[in-house]
Amino acid sequence: MNQSISARDYDSFRQFLEEACGIVLGDNKQYLVASRLNRLLKELDVSSVGELIVQLKKQPRSGLRERIIDAMTTNETFWFRDNHPYELLKDLILPELTKKRSSQLKIWSAASSSGQEPYSISMILQEYLKSRPGSLTNNIQILGTDISPTMLEMCRSGVYDALALSRGLSPERKKRFFQQQGDLWQVTDEIRNRVRFSELNLMNSYASLGQFDIVFCRNVLIYFSSELKRDILRRISQTLAPGGYLFLGSTETIASYSDDFETVRHKGGIVYQLKSGGSTPTTPSFPRATLDRS
Ligand SMILES: C[S@@+](CC[C@H](N)C(=O)[O-])C[C@H]1O[C@@H](n2cnc3c(N)ncnc32)[C@H](O)[C@@H]1O
Repeated sequence: MNQSISARDYDSFRQFLEEACGIVLGDNKQYLVASRLNRLLKELDVSSVGELIVQLKKQPRSGLRERIIDAMTTNETFWFRDNHPYELLKDLILPELTKKRSSQLKIWSAASSSGQEPYSISMILQEYLKSRPGSLTNNIQILGTDISPTMLEMCRSGVYDALALSRGLSPERKKRFFQQQGDLWQVTDEIRNRVRFSELNLMNSYASLGQFDIVFCRNVLIYFSSELKRDILRRISQTLAPGGYLFLGSTETIASYSDDFETVRHKGGIVYQLKSGGSTPTTPSFPRATLDRS
């Protein structure tokens, strides 16, 4: 395969990627594109990114678009990432929900990658319920969504290797919440049963998802333009129940992107709480685009 990408092909590819999944590539990321697409190009016996774009235009419905997106996403994740969100959940939000005695608790992990985030949330709930039986409704649902079908397959299997398990998981939690299967470990049913997964591009509508008490949208907005961040945050605020909570990644902030939330700080962590009278539901400002614009 020809590793070099012409300026024209790189521009077409950047445009395609941003329109397809919101990911904005910087000016000099040709090496990243080449390394991420290398395997796909070899498999398809396509000699260059330029030729890949030609194929994409010729056969827009061949599944190639999805495979390129899958190859280009960054799926880095680990258990209890940054700890603060999980401390906040345990110390602040779950006790508040216990007091409210809500009949249903719905949590959305909006870029779930390989599943560590929604399963970590489920483990916190399990620990909370063990120490305070009956304190929360039995009707707890955690929804994990991602754009990547490969990641969603991993999520659904709930099976991880030793390296994945070594990242952020204490030995106690490993023992308690996993079953060994040869060299691999599967998340136990008690943790998996309240989590389901679904494919969702954050650029598309969230209308079918219903309403959530808590949304985790962590370490994904960083890849998007300011305009798309604003749009996504506005639409997330519309999926939240009154007083609902939003977690972003530790390097992400709501400042200058949304006025719909109050910042709540706790032991060095931050969570955003929906202000009363948040924004009114509207459709996405970024409808699914096609490649045919160039
Ligand atoms: C870096 S991971 C973050 C995983 C997890 N939230 C965490 O903080 O550990 C980013 C995830 O966002 C997903 N992603 C990227 N663009 C997306 C889009 N437009 N819609 C939905 N998911 C997207 C990727 O597939 C990837 O799994």
